[in-house]
Amino acid sequence: MIKLDNFSSFFVANWKLNGNFKFIDQFITEISLPQDTTKCVVICPTTIHLDYMSKNKTKFYVGAQNVSQHKDGAFTGEISADSLSDLNVNFCIVGHSERRQFFFEKNEDINHKSENLIKKNIIPIVCVGETLEDKEKGITNGILEEQLKKSIPISSNFQNTIIAYEPVWAIGTGLTPTNKEINDTHSFIREHNSKFNKFKIIYGGSVKANNVNEITSLLNVDGALIGGASLKSDEFTKIIQD
Ligand code: PGA
Repeated sequence: MIKLDNFSSFFVANWKLNGNFKFIDQFITEISLPQDTTKCVVICPTTIHLDYMSKNKTKFYVGAQNVSQHKDGAFTGEISADSLSDLNVNFCIVGHSERRQFFFEKNEDINHKSENLIKKNIIPIVCVGETLEDKEKGITNGILEEQLKKSIPISSNFQNTIIAYEPVWAIGTGLTPTNKEINDTHSFIREHNSKFNKFKIIYGGSVKANNVNEITSLLNVDGALIGGASLKSDEFTKIIQD
C-alpha cells in the first residue's frame, strides 16, 4: 500500500465517463508533473483504461472510480477489488455523490467497498457531502457525521483511507463554499470523532486553477479532488503545479 504519510498533499483527477486511448496518449504527453515529490497526483480514468494508464503512467498514480461491494461471485458486470489490484491500481474513489444519486449506493455499500479495497492494499477515497437542501436546512454537519459513521469501515485509519469532502451542490456547478466554510467543515470532520484526527481530508467541487491554491493552503485541507478541470491538460498542470 502507498504510504500516505510520505505526501504533503493529494491531487486526484476524476475523469468520470470521459477519455479514450487517444485522449490518454495526448494528456500524458502534455501534462507536466510537479517537481515537489511530496505532492501525490492520482488520475482516475474509466475502468477500461486503468490498465493502459498503469502501463503508460509517468510520475503519477492510477485510481479507479468505483469497485464492487462484493468480493466475488454471481454479480454480472461488477469489478472486484481483487481485479483492481491485478492492474496495480493504488487508489479508488468510493461513494461519489453521482454514484449515491444515480446508482443508489448506500453508506453500507460504501463501507463494504472500502473494506474490500483496504484488504487488497488499495486506498479508498471516501466521498461525503451535503446537498443544497441539507445546507439550507443547516444540517450539513449532521449529514456528514452520519455518512462518515456508516461509510467508513472499522478497518479504516489515517494510513489506509482518504476522506473527500464534496458538497453535492458544488460539483460541476462553478459554485464553491467560502474558504472559511471549507476549512470549518474539514475541521468538523477531523475533530468530531477522534478516529478522524489524523486522516487526510481533500476537498472537491468546482476546483479550478484559479482557486486551487487558496483552497489547498487552508489549514485543514490536504488536497483536492478535481472533475471537469482535470480533463484539460493545461488546466490540470496549473492545478498540480500551484
Ligand atoms: P468538478 O467535479 O470538479 O467538475 O466540480 C468534482 C467531482 O465530481 O469529483
